[in-house]
Parts: sequence; C-alpha cells; structure tokens
Amino acid sequence: MMRAAITGAGHYLPSKVVTNDDLARLMTTSDEWIQQRTGIKERRFIEHDGIGASDLAVPAAKMALDQAGLAPVDVDAIIFATLSPDVNFPGSAVFLQHKLGCRQICALDVRNQCSGFLYSLSIADAWIRAGVYRNVLIVGAEVHSTGIELNERGRDVAVLFGDGAGAVVVQPSDDDARGILDVELHADGVGARELWLEAPASMYVPRLTQAMLDEGRHYPKMNGKAVFRWAVDKMPEVAAASLARLGMTSQDVDLFVPHQANMRINQLVAMKLNIPQEKLVHNIDRYGNTTAATIPIGLSESWKEGRIAKGTRVLMAAFGAGFTWASAVVRF
Ligand code: ACO
Repeated sequence: MMRAAITGAGHYLPSKVVTNDDLARLMTTSDEWIQQRTGIKERRFIEHDGIGASDLAVPAAKMALDQAGLAPVDVDAIIFATLSPDVNFPGSAVFLQHKLGCRQICALDVRNQCSGFLYSLSIADAWIRAGVYRNVLIVGAEVHSTGIELNERGRDVAVLFGDGAGAVVVQPSDDDARGILDVELHADGVGARELWLEAPASMYVPRLTQAMLDEGRHYPKMNGKAVFRWAVDKMPEVAAASLARLGMTSQDVDLFVPHQANMRINQLVAMKLNIPQEKLVHNIDRYGNTTAATIPIGLSESWKEGRIAKGTRVLMAAFGAGFTWASAVVRF
C-alpha cells in the first residue's frame, strides 16, 4: 500500500522577542499571571510592518525542502494553513508560490485555525495516496501581532498569541510501516462565535464601519473558559480514537506534539491519554500560540534536536476556533 510520509520539516520565528513584562507595560497583566494560566514566557513578533504570513513561510519552507532534498521547482502543490493571511484575498499560498519560485502549481489556502495543519496533512495524505501529486509542501504560518489588541480591552486574548511559521514536505513512501498512519478531522459550528474575528464581514454592508472599529470588532474575541473545556475534552477523545483505529495504545507513542494554546491544556490532555510528560513537546513557553504553525514548528524543532528519528511514532492533536479539532499518527 502506498503511504504518504513526512520527509522534511522547517520552522522560522521572527527575531523580535516580546516578554510578558513587555506586555505588562501596555495593559494590566503580569508575568506571573500569564505564566500560571498559560505557560507562556515570551513570544515573537515581526520586526516591522510589511511582513506577512507568506514572508515567515519562505524560510520555513526552504528548510523543509532542504531536508527533503527538494528544490522549490520540484514542489507539485502548496497547502497554506493560516488564520492571518497576508491580505483578505488572494490566499497566502499564491504569494508563497511566487516568492519561492515554484512552477505554476496548485496553491491552496486552508482556513481551519489551530487545526489547520492537521486538516492540511489529511489533504496531502489523500492526494499522495490517490496519485494526484508527489511532492506536497504544507506550511502553517501566522502574523498575529498586527491583529491583536495590545491594550486593556484586549488583554485576555493579546497575551496568548505570537508570530511564526512551520513547514513540512509530504512525499510517497513504499515502506508500508512508515508515513501518515491516520488522520481524523472534526468540527462543530456551535462554537463558531466562541472564538472569532467578526469584521470585516461579507454579511454586513458596509463590511467595516467606524462603529465596528470603535467597538473593536476587528479584533479576535474569545470565550476562554468554553474553549478550554472543549479542548481538554475533544483533544484526548480524537487522539484516543486515532490510536484505537491503529490498534495502538499510548505506550506505542514515542512523542506527543499537541497544538500549543495553553500549557495546562496540553498537560491535562497528556494526562488523560496516559502519556508521560517527557514525551510531550511544547514550544508555547517561547513562542505563545502560533496557531496553524504550532505543530509543524514542534515537529521541526524535535527533528533537529534528535527527538524524532527513523521509526519514531508521533501523535498529534489540535483544537481551535470553529470549533475544529483533529488528530494524526505519523511514523517517521
Ligand atoms: N492578565 C491578567 N488578568 C487577566 C488577563 C491578563 N492578560 N486576561 C484576563 N484576566 C483576568 C480576567 O478578567 C478575570 O478576572 P475576574 O476574575 O476579575 O473576572 C481573571 O483574569 C480570570 O480570567 P479567566 O478567563 O477566568 O482565566 P482562565 O483561568 O480561564 O484563563 C485563558 C484564561 C488562559 C485564556 C484560558 O481560558 C484558556 O487558555 N482558554 C483556551 C484558549 C485556547 O485554547 N484558545 C484556542 C486556540 S486559539 C485559535 O484557535 C485561534
């Protein structure tokens, strides 16, 4: 049976480090509150304006392509997961296609927020196993810093997010034991307004008004407690379902790379799954929530650190806006 395998990974973080103390100068918050509630110590912001998600994606993609031994002209399809595209349209995948110097290939944007990378992995897996494409580049990249409200009103959301990009290359593998073994995707729009960015909106005429700007409806709004409850419920559920379908238990998992929204969420999810903390990958302490980029950054860093090698079985799980949630099991 033909499988799709992850053959390269890359990541890129902008150089500007923003600490919790830096944010405490802009709003009533503290390093202690942020660390206790979320595990975040610092995050990265773009150095200056004019840098979009596709710009962060370029170095991440190049690193992933290098590891896979491919050049940009070898790429057959790009899937770009982001909730912060460079502009409203076109999608960021076309900007990346042009900036990398790829051929006139398929370029697709995926809008599934924190689950966007795993949704993209499922598409790449299906394309490759069906023989549609051979060399698929997946990128998750976000520029949050230009879209969060860095003041008192926005403090509950603003402290959570950071900018960054991660990428993987997915290619066919003849080795039946290696590759993407399972991906499971879910959504429930009952939560659509629990975490959203409302405006500009095509359902309003005009799409953006001065009143909306004054009310801050162009900034993300979140019911943090509801998202937290759903996340600690759904992430273990979907991950356990993936393992069960493969006849695996948590003991067969070598590394767990969850989405990075909150360290407490990830510790609870790992505990529910009986996965020891030493198998848990986290980057939220250094980068905050980079949304579609968290999992590919985690994969790339783990690979470079030697925590991923040939044969390593990696479990991934995500939960985010939509609500959407997903899991995957990959053998490297
Ligand atoms: N600094 C200090 N105090 C704050 C801050 C802040 N930045 N933000 C809120 N507070 C205050 C609140 O006003 C509240 O005060 P009150 O008790 O006087 O009303 C108090 O701190 C406690 O706030 P809670 O909301 O109860 O804090 P909680 O323990 O729930 O933690 C958090 C909040 C961290 C946001 C948590 O709910 C969470 O992690 N939720 C899930 C986030 C998530 O998973 N997002 C999804 C991914 S994102 C995506 O898909 C795009």
